[in-house]
This record gives sequence, C-alpha cells and structure tokens, in this order.
Amino acid sequence: MHVTGAVLWVGGGLTLTILALRAERARDPQEMATIARQAAFVGERVFAPVGLLVLLAGIGMVVNLNIDWSTSWIVAGLVGYAITFLTGLLVLSPMAKRIGTLMETKGAEAPETQEAIQRILLVARVDVGVLLLVVAVMVLKPFT
Ligand code: HEM
Repeated sequence: MHVTGAVLWVGGGLTLTILALRAERARDPQEMATIARQAAFVGERVFAPVGLLVLLAGIGMVVNLNIDWSTSWIVAGLVGYAITFLTGLLVLSPMAKRIGTLMETKGAEAPETQEAIQRILLVARVDVGVLLLVVAVMVLKPFT
C-alpha cells in the first residue's frame, strides 16, 4: 500500500509537471488553464487521500517492524510529508481557489490568470522535488 501509493502520488505529480512544461513551451494559455484545473482536482481528490494512506501505511510499518522513530530515513519521510501537507494546505489550495475565481471573472487567457497559473505550477514542481527526495532517502537509506 505504501509503495503503490507513493508511485501513484509521485508519478502523478511528475506527469502533471511534464504536461505543464509542454504547455508552457507551446505558449498555450488554454492548455495551461486545463492542466491547472486538472492538477487542482487530482491534488485534492487523489493526491491528498493517497498521501494520507502513504503516511498511515508508513506508520504501520514502523510499528510492526519495530523501527526506531529516530531513524534518519523515517525522520526524512515524516518531515517530507509535513512539508508537502503544509504546502498543499497553506499554499497550493488557496492559490488554486484564487485561480478558479480569476478564470471565472477575468478568463483563462488574462495575464493575471496566466501569471497565477505559472506561480502555482512552480510551487507544485518544488513539491514534487520534495517527494522525489523522500523516495531517494527511503530507497537508499543513507546514514543508517
Ligand atoms: C512523502 C512520503 C513518503 C514517500 C514518497 C515514501 C516512499 C517510500 C518508498 C518508495 C519506499 C520503498 C523503499 C524500499 O523499500 O526500497 C518506502 C519504504 C518505507 N517507508 Fe516510506 N515514504 C514516505 C513516507 C514515509 C513515512 C512518513 C514513514 C514512516 C512514518 C515511512 C516508512 C517507510 C517504511 C517503514 C518503509 C519500508 C522500508 C524497508 O523495509 O526497506 N515512509 N517509502
């Protein structure tokens, strides 16, 4: 459950990043708006519950396998989860709501809307980077 969830979460985030980079390069504002809308949907309805499942399954393994909570790669997992959870709650979610309002009031092609979309996609890219870092630490288990 933990690894399948992580694959879905990180793989989904990377796919969205690739699609956003493609739309950015093509300078296609409609496509950018579509990707932002889809990212908001999967972020809230798929990545958030799957991320919670990854956390719970991880906690379950730590307890079942009697792993020390101070183990460096466990701490990295917990810190990584906390960072991505707080980024979603405090940054991505309010930004996505603002973009929704901008799309309705000013339209998808308005410079303000496009600027906000580019900003949210940049934060999402950093977020995926954090997840990739956690995967690397979980797999390689350095400093143990
Ligand atoms: C950002 C969230 C996380 C991601 C993306 C993630 C990803 C992964 C991946 C890909 C593995 C497979 C590594 C391997 O066995 O080679 C793994 C294993 C594991 N993870 Fe996580 N993880 C995350 C958070 C956590 C948390 C918060 C905990 C604990 C509270 C945790 C506990 C574990 C444990 C116990 C294993 C099994 C390691 C083993 O027995 O070799 N993970 N994780």
